[in-house]
Amino acid sequence: MTAPGTCFVTREIPAAGLAVLERAGVSFEIGARGDDATLARPALLAGVARHDVVISLLTERIDRALLASAPRLRGIANMAVGYDNVDVAAASELGVPVSNTPGVLTAATADLTLALLLAVARRIPEAHAYTVAGRFKTWGPRLLLGAGIGPLPGAPRKVLGIVGFGRIGRAVAQRALGFDLDVLAFGPRNRAEIDAIPGVRFAPLDELLRRSDFVTLHVPLTAATRHLIGAAELATMKPTAFLINTSRGPVVDERALVEALRTGVIRGVGLDVYEAEPALAPGLVGCERVVLLPHVASATEETRDRMATMAAENALCHLRGEPAPNAIDRAVYERSAWRARVGR
Ligand code: GLV
Repeated sequence: MTAPGTCFVTREIPAAGLAVLERAGVSFEIGARGDDATLARPALLAGVARHDVVISLLTERIDRALLASAPRLRGIANMAVGYDNVDVAAASELGVPVSNTPGVLTAATADLTLALLLAVARRIPEAHAYTVAGRFKTWGPRLLLGAGIGPLPGAPRKVLGIVGFGRIGRAVAQRALGFDLDVLAFGPRNRAEIDAIPGVRFAPLDELLRRSDFVTLHVPLTAATRHLIGAAELATMKPTAFLINTSRGPVVDERALVEALRTGVIRGVGLDVYEAEPALAPGLVGCERVVLLPHVASATEETRDRMATMAAENALCHLRGEPAPNAIDRAVYERSAWRARVGR
């Protein structure tokens, strides 16, 4: 069977995804190879214009201008669960379906969230650096004291506040219950749905911030969640509290965060994502009780293979003019603009 078209893979993805395209006889071009290599805007525009579908990553901005310059385009398969890098409304209007890769990175992201929480609260990176530097001379009663997570006998449990209780937020809650944390959760499920989950209680954002010892963010980045956590919200948190962010950087006002860390408004932070990734806000690196990771929440071999496979399978559907299993806006398939692109 002749392949229905060609695919532009903006940056090299795991081989499992490329194998899906190969098996389907779809020829593809990779825009940039190597994990540090990004794709400059002119190369992105030229690549998208040369092919029928695109497998994109969260590092590429797929905006209206790009979409409008690609009349051949039949779909965008974003290899990420988040799709704030794609203007989905413009894509739908222009008849271009957009898909993402939900579900397969839930566990990996929830695991890393707990890892960050433990790392910053128990000062694991500092303890590691101390040990490998040869500074470990003896057990010390005051050496590298961190903040406790599980409860002491007779003491109240610590509270984890989960902001954004979708798939990943809920998976974080499951893990946190195993650490005997009390869990408060806020949106997008309603109060009754959240309260029905054993061990979890709904709390409005303000109350959640006030009561939590650890606050973790799991909202998508939208106009409503940009700077959801700013100076006022940080000031609402306990001075002993830690903030964890594995969602999207701009959900937190990073300058306000640096100021809050410097002035003791909160105790510490674990970040996997940044407001102007890969740049870090001035002063962030110098702050104490900070653990910083390079956006690796979904970075396990198994998860990235599944994400690449899923993106490629979505791309094949886009190419064939079939509804993709993970299309974000299914209404696009009702549009004449889509039918015109796929020749119906
Ligand atoms: C990663 O950040 C993703 O959205 O998949």
